[in-house]
Amino acid sequence: MGRVILITGGAGFIGSALVRFLIENTNCFVVNYDKLTYASNLESLASIESSNRYHFVHGDICDKVQLTSILSQFTPDIIMHLAAESHVDRSIDGPADFMQTNIIGTYTLLEACREYYSSLKDEKKYGFRFHHISTDEVYGDLAEGELFTEKSSYAPSSPYSASKAASDHLVRAWYRTYGLPVVLSNCSNNYGPFQHNEKLIPQTIMNALIGKPIPIYGNGLQVRDWLYVEDHVRALYSVLCDGEIGETYNIGGNCEKRNIDVVNTICELLEKLVPGNVNSLAASGNALGFKSLITYVDDRPGHDVRYAIDSNKIQRELGWKPIESFESGVRKTIAWYVNEAGKV
Ligand SMILES: NC(=O)c1ccc[n+]([C@@H]2O[C@H](COP(=O)([O-])OP(=O)(O)OC[C@H]3O[C@@H](n4cnc5c(N)ncnc54)[C@H](O)[C@@H]3O)[C@@H](O)[C@H]2O)c1
Repeated sequence: MGRVILITGGAGFIGSALVRFLIENTNCFVVNYDKLTYASNLESLASIESSNRYHFVHGDICDKVQLTSILSQFTPDIIMHLAAESHVDRSIDGPADFMQTNIIGTYTLLEACREYYSSLKDEKKYGFRFHHISTDEVYGDLAEGELFTEKSSYAPSSPYSASKAASDHLVRAWYRTYGLPVVLSNCSNNYGPFQHNEKLIPQTIMNALIGKPIPIYGNGLQVRDWLYVEDHVRALYSVLCDGEIGETYNIGGNCEKRNIDVVNTICELLEKLVPGNVNSLAASGNALGFKSLITYVDDRPGHDVRYAIDSNKIQRELGWKPIESFESGVRKTIAWYVNEAGKV
């Protein structure tokens, strides 16, 4: 048996892809600590849940007593912290859960890990890492032609990104003040199988498949960098294995797209992949096919116009690069959702 990795938020979109990767490609023992909020999906773990290297714990990162007990029971070598409230729109409608989980939860986890780390001896202590998984949204809005680097200033715009920025600062403070061995990564927008339908790409695919309006915020010209979730997971693993303590690594797909172009691409691919659905739309008078479902809605308050990430550091220092292009990743994602939609 290899190293013991405690993952928080392993029943979520990225966390579950990470758990599947670790069980399928390494000899690590994985403890998945998750509160099972609305965003979780245990079906995403069905393919690995019977592994004798996998253990699930239903728990909240704000619960220090339970965290302390799990740390002493499983004595992890690595913590990978993904648990978070993650949807910007929800953070605007109700920020409280974001402050609680993303800030207080991260603080509580750091304190439990600090106590645990100070109890470790020799080699176990030497190898211990706390990997904090964060977002490029902490850097805020970006002018045309610029890229976020690891040295960019923080300027978060939404309650979500402000709470993630706070959690990044806490992790760095626990490194600098208490010597907790941390690494951080900040990633751009992910997409792929098992993402919650409230996010742009799954929402577009699912609404198109059932003939529902596809909402686009404002003018649809907001630019995001897109990364296939399995590429992100490989990047996380290389940060974990080879990242330097105290360092931050930006992770991105080098794939800037305007929201409207993302939606148009999905509509065009769907027309090729599921022509039956588009024919029935055409029969009801929508000659434009899936694109006829696009509906512009009021822009999100405080909406950042552009994010774009410079991931040269992780490419140069850790030898990681994305495998999927946007076209190939989106094709795989659509095929997965079409298959899922066929099951219901
Ligand atoms: N999705 C993206 O595009 C993206 C991009 C960059 C970074 N991130 C970051 O990666 C991480 C994972 O994102 P995701 O999209 O998989 O999120 P998600 O919303 O799909 O999953 C979050 C998971 O955390 C769990 N959770 C929430 N509150 C908890 C708590 N108090 N205690 C324990 N578990 C709790 C949920 O049950 C869920 O399983 C987050 O920290 C997010 O900020 C996401």
